[in-house]
Amino acid sequence: MLKPRASISALAPYRSPIMSRAGLSLDLNESMAGCSPRVLARLRDLSAADVSLYPQRELGERLVAKFLGIASEQLLLTNGLDEALLLLFASYLGPADELLFADPTFTMYPMLGEALGAKVVRVQSGHDLALPVADLLARISPRTRVIAIANPNNPTGLAAARADLLKIAQAAPDAAVLIDEAYFEFYGETLITDLPSHPNLFVARTFSKAYGLAGLRLGVLTGAAEQIGYLRRFSEPFNVNSVALACLEVALADQAFVRAHVAQVQQGREQLAQLFDDLGLRFWPSQTNFVLVRVGAAAKIFVESMRRRGILVRDLSASPGCEGCVRITLATPSQMEEVLQTIREAIAQDQRS
Ligand SMILES: Cc1ncc(COP(=O)(O)O)c(C=O)c1O
Repeated sequence: MLKPRASISALAPYRSPIMSRAGLSLDLNESMAGCSPRVLARLRDLSAADVSLYPQRELGERLVAKFLGIASEQLLLTNGLDEALLLLFASYLGPADELLFADPTFTMYPMLGEALGAKVVRVQSGHDLALPVADLLARISPRTRVIAIANPNNPTGLAAARADLLKIAQAAPDAAVLIDEAYFEFYGETLITDLPSHPNLFVARTFSKAYGLAGLRLGVLTGAAEQIGYLRRFSEPFNVNSVALACLEVALADQAFVRAHVAQVQQGREQLAQLFDDLGLRFWPSQTNFVLVRVGAAAKIFVESMRRRGILVRDLSASPGCEGCVRITLATPSQMEEVLQTIREAIAQDQRS
């Protein structure tokens, strides 16, 4: 009888991250501001050749490399940052190798490590949920082949200091050290400038968040030219679709859209911080487009009463260190009033039940 590799059949059954689209989706860290109108105009302008011919990823890579101030050889465009993770992990992690990361973090890291049959080494953050730098350093072994760090992190929204991240990269010269900067635009600090001095460092970005292009699936992996060259050998030549590539130039050109969206997200973070302070709820100061808050033992009930009121938020109470926590994506200023009011009502209901 046909059987997949043991590491695949041992994975948890697939569940779509999309619970529902009935309501305001504040559960997936998408952009509630949509995307640049210039991207929509470009989409309306697509020609038959834009879809009938195979895509030319290299043209897009030149654009993004120029935008980031690096050489095209240091960059690979991918089908979302998720694909960059797959390419990177599969290129360096074999069955006897170790993948190292700190909990809580992005759930794709353990899933991919397990799928590849690697040994998944997890370090738990303390109560502050900050990156446990000393513990990570202590767990680096000769077998460590990939270290994955989201900075700022999902689901905490917290960022680690650049010096600490570089310390980790320097301590593991034989491991690929990935800094996943999916939320870079909301934070503003990057390690891309450290690539020349750290040959084992990789920095990944996405157009899914601040650019509002999650549906187009556009990710970016940067690293030393030599290492990116190896990953390119293994990547599909047509992994990024022509429609996404056609939109790239206008998306990058419209930085005013990105800046305006980031400013609105910052304003929303302040409103949520004020509300959680008023309600006496513990939350983590976020550098992203979402906020993690501890609503208490009744997190499930809270999420359900938000859903009944038309707002979807993510229950994270099962994530290590996030007991009683939910993650809420920031909405647009016009939606925020309703979001704040709905949170108040759901918390009041929690306290009554
Ligand atoms: C830390 C982190 N990395 C990667 C991704 C995936 O991004 P993409 O949509 O580009 O695959 C996400 C999406 O939520 C994320 O939070």
